[in-house]
Amino acid sequence: RKTFRWMWRLTYLSVIGVFGYTCYVIYDDRNPEPQFEQDPTKKTIVVLGTGWGSVSLLKKLDTENYNVVVVSPRNYFLFTPLLPSCTTGTIEHRSIMEPVRTIVRHKKRAVKYYEADASSIDPDRKVVTIVDNSEIKGKTMQTEIPYDMLVVGVGAENATFGIPGVREHSCFLKEIGDAQRIRKKIMDCVETAAFKGQSEEEVNRLMHMVVVGGGPTGVEFAGELQDFFEEDIKKLIPEISPRFKVTLIEALPNVLPSFSKQLIDYTENTLREEKIDIKTKTMVKKVTDTTVEAEITNPDGSKQSVVIPYGLLVWATGNAVRPIVKDLISRIPAQQNSRRGLAVNEYLVVQGARDIWAIGDCAVAGYAPTAQVASQEGNFLGGLFNNMAKTENLESRIHDLSSSMNLNPGNSAETAREIEHLEKQLRRVKDVKPFHYSHQGSLAYIGSEKAVADVSWWNGNLATGGSMTYLFWRSAYLSMCFSTRNRVLVILDWLKSKAFGRDVSRE
Ligand code: FAD
Ligand code: NAI
Repeated sequence: RKTFRWMWRLTYLSVIGVFGYTCYVIYDDRNPEPQFEQDPTKKTIVVLGTGWGSVSLLKKLDTENYNVVVVSPRNYFLFTPLLPSCTTGTIEHRSIMEPVRTIVRHKKRAVKYYEADASSIDPDRKVVTIVDNSEIKGKTMQTEIPYDMLVVGVGAENATFGIPGVREHSCFLKEIGDAQRIRKKIMDCVETAAFKGQSEEEVNRLMHMVVVGGGPTGVEFAGELQDFFEEDIKKLIPEISPRFKVTLIEALPNVLPSFSKQLIDYTENTLREEKIDIKTKTMVKKVTDTTVEAEITNPDGSKQSVVIPYGLLVWATGNAVRPIVKDLISRIPAQQNSRRGLAVNEYLVVQGARDIWAIGDCAVAGYAPTAQVASQEGNFLGGLFNNMAKTENLESRIHDLSSSMNLNPGNSAETAREIEHLEKQLRRVKDVKPFHYSHQGSLAYIGSEKAVADVSWWNGNLATGGSMTYLFWRSAYLSMCFSTRNRVLVILDWLKSKAFGRDVSRE
């Protein structure tokens, strides 16, 4: 009984502790300290983008040492791993967005933010041209920002490989607007299929949801879509439910090519059990407003053309280089062979350029284009810049002390000791190791409350899939959410969609 009483007290204290800490975090978030003004004597760092790389850099960077200017057309950070859940309303989109204004308000020195696209970078004049492409424009829509140091973290755009009709007729899944468009279109297809007198052929087409690209984006979206259908649409509109079908098209012999063989097999079996039709070795060649034209490679190597009618088409075939990055590549002779982004060295410096660094999906550093890589690169660069500022401060202190030693030889022994101490510090600060990526593993949701995980475990790898992995997936992503606010909202969304079902109203 005594043990029980102690356990009870401990639980009680932990609950109070967690509650108190959450209240403190919320209070601190709402009442940030006053900030210093920008200082014209400090160097200016211009950061392009508000994605995984740039925001992680901003978090780490000590703004006391620099004036920081952020430019991005998106005035929020987006937690992309939960974006597929927004397409069906499992999670509401605002739950995975964090305003950049809130993020920069917590820095010591004021950070300037401009909602704009960087349209060109002039590495010789060290200026970035920015353009306001938002709906509401003022009289000034374009201007230049000078930089001392520039960080390019603009991510990537959707790859279409120039396949005709893709841009005009399909939905992508990269931004909040894409997820909202998909959510609206799913319900539009379903409601149109239920329209009085709709022909059988048309119902079949409208209820056919086609996903092109069997990478993690395509697989996660297909899983979410099938869940939405099984758990909500089927119950609410049973008369057309037998016609609902999800097809996942992949050009390679299997889906999730970057995962281990065991998890690929597990994923494909699970998707088939969920009644998702997987078409591998199928390359989409053309898209029209109602059909996808593809070429299937048969087991004997022969090719066969197929025409697949669809209601909703989601295109998830990976990344392509953004125009701003292509433009910068064309201005730097050493980058002429760069095809997939800005080639960087082991300190993430853009090769052949002065004072320009690149991080995340727009940089080619030899790693996969993932959030994990981008955030580690941002964090590394933030640390590197902090070190550079410390180095400059120490060097200038040593210089001042050496000069004073010449002027006041009386204090020379004490000053010499101080210089020696500072020089030791300087050697430590200057000893910066190159960027090293530490892979924590890969996770993907595959539908019906199952997930797959390829994670680093001790010195080896652990490949696992199923319902327990799904709980791990949820807790991992919850812990990685940007803020306490995001975490609370995501938990509430999960509870809400479980208790009341997903909202099927079409906004
Ligand atoms: P982004 O996060 O894409 O940010 C780019 C920023 O640059 C944006 O703010 C954009 O508005 C801005 N920008 C664009 N053009 C300009 C311009 N001209 N000027 C200024 N700013 C500009 N990775 C994982 O590791 N795990 C996952 O579970 C995972 N899930 C994903 C799910 C989905 C649906 C998607 C699409 C991706 C997922 N990824 C995941 C990949 C991950 O999101 C990317 O690798 C990551 O976002 C790259 O970070 P970034 O900072 O380079 O670019
Ligand atoms: P991807 O590049 O990983 O996969 C795209 C797939 O589309 C490829 O398998 C390719 O063979 C296929 N494809 C290309 N053209 C095709 C065509 N014409 N017809 C049929 N199939 C075609 O792209 P994805 O999934 O968008 O991911 C981009 C990056 O983001 C990757 O690095 C990925 O690891 C990361 N990501 C990670 C997630 C996770 O860890 N859970 C989730 C989503 C993305």
